Amino acid sequence: MSDKKPPQGKGLSKGLTNYGDSGFSLFLRKAFIKGAGYTDDALSRPVIGIVNTGSGYNPCHGNAPQLIEAVKRGVMLAGGLPVDFPTISVHESFSQPTSMYLRNLMSMDTEEMIRAQPMDAVVLIGGCDKTVPAQLMGAASAGVPAIQLVTGSMLTGAHRGERVGACTDCRRYWGRYRAEEIDEAEIAEVNNKLVASVGTCSVMGTASTMACLTEAMGMMIPGGASAPAVTADRVRVAEQTGATAVAMAAAGLTPQQIITGKSIENALRVLLAIGGSTNGIVHLTAIAGRLGIEIDLAGLDRMSRETPVLVDLKPSGQHYMEDFHKAGGMPALLRELAPLLHLDALTVTGRTLGEELQAAPAAFEQDVIRPRGTPIYPAGGLAVLRGNLAPGGAIIKQSAANPELMEHEGRAVVFEDAEDMARRIDDENLDVRADDVLVLKRIGPTGAPGMPEAGYMPIPKKLARAGVKDMVRVSDGRMSGTAAGTIVLHVTPEAAVGGPLAYVRNGDRIRLSLRERLIEVQVSAEELARRAAEAPQARPEAARGYRKLFLQSVTQADQGVDFDFLRAADMTQKVPER
Ligand code: FES
Repeated sequence: MSDKKPPQGKGLSKGLTNYGDSGFSLFLRKAFIKGAGYTDDALSRPVIGIVNTGSGYNPCHGNAPQLIEAVKRGVMLAGGLPVDFPTISVHESFSQPTSMYLRNLMSMDTEEMIRAQPMDAVVLIGGCDKTVPAQLMGAASAGVPAIQLVTGSMLTGAHRGERVGACTDCRRYWGRYRAEEIDEAEIAEVNNKLVASVGTCSVMGTASTMACLTEAMGMMIPGGASAPAVTADRVRVAEQTGATAVAMAAAGLTPQQIITGKSIENALRVLLAIGGSTNGIVHLTAIAGRLGIEIDLAGLDRMSRETPVLVDLKPSGQHYMEDFHKAGGMPALLRELAPLLHLDALTVTGRTLGEELQAAPAAFEQDVIRPRGTPIYPAGGLAVLRGNLAPGGAIIKQSAANPELMEHEGRAVVFEDAEDMARRIDDENLDVRADDVLVLKRIGPTGAPGMPEAGYMPIPKKLARAGVKDMVRVSDGRMSGTAAGTIVLHVTPEAAVGGPLAYVRNGDRIRLSLRERLIEVQVSAEELARRAAEAPQARPEAARGYRKLFLQSVTQADQGVDFDFLRAADMTQKVPER
């Protein structure tokens, strides 16, 4: 038997329940946990909490039990005591009105349970779109050493010989069904093939984007972003994550030391280079905001002009996450981006990003991660627009937009809210042409509420039938990271709080210019002011509960849609710095 001393931590004596006698509090705590059969030796070890977000409602986290087992193995091999505990779990398709409405609630649950329970470090197991940002927001605020583990992407399936995966292909097939190119029987067949295993969406949607950004930010072990959910690599990542958490506990390595202006800038760089989800910018803004770091949208746009898209994944490109993993994953991409990164940024391993890249496996020939000289798209995936329609900014995913529509002016066809759109979009009498601009109001942070992913407005059926695949669409909502099209999102301020979008009318001319980074309604300021005076907007309210808290406290997209009282009191740093 080794006489090496096991690692020590404050463990169970951290954060005692308040009985007015700390000795008694610890005595009682140990008495209760001994009821589960623990020895004093086990209870003297550093305690590593493991956030269990497994849920029958969350197939993206369907491998959580196996990952928890592997994390526990890693923790115990390194001399710690693993203790798993549940928090809220949020799945995209099982959250009404929208998962974004629940992200902040999950972040509060995560923060408070990390703080309330004794743990020297915590492993955050998340994956589905809103879960990773919620966990990083909560952990950043809790200030306890924390490391992210993602569940990993699902496998791809095949429909009639064609490779398919959620959810870019879900939207593509649904579009074909709406256009009556495929029938009821075929769409039912496709429904069985799109999601071939548990795990997160298999394209560069929000879940994959957040996994990549987290690794770039240093909050995950190197190479931890891309292994698919049902592979041996994913289980190995889980074991290594557990062991790393024990070392972080010993070193007292907190999120504040890792999530800095430099690491956020690295994450922004990667967001642009992977053609990442537009949601990524909202979530990064919220995570950074917890630590007093503000993301400057104008600076992001400057970065975008000098950061090409290098990863050939749907919806911007061709491949799927499992291909990205086989091509070397994030270490291969980061090596390619190295001249544009802050290599001195710290990671969960206690080493810098640059040190980790030097230790990463050698590069090899592959066709998923391109060299900077031959990118998928010459600029970054996202562009920031401004103009009288979006004084606080708007976002477009230019790498997944139609180049022919990037300089476009058209007549506005306006829907007042999501219900109005659902009612009229397929009406054969709707006055709409292919060169019109579809406008959807009141799907912003307070409008829907929760800023649902309804910004990907369907092409009106009569146009879809005529072969129209894309139109300029403008809203104050979000869209899924798996979607593509010429779609202007996150228009700020939103219509529901009186942003100019609220006053756009049918027939107004709207101009989109990627070249000029412009989104404008060709209506004078006087006329917009007159319309505003005629129909003033009152911020939506609710009588009770979480909805009341949400509507009172939620911020706009440019502040990450976080609650105002959860953001840092002082925003002391702006990124990017130049
Ligand atoms: Fe969970 Fe796409 S629905 S990651």
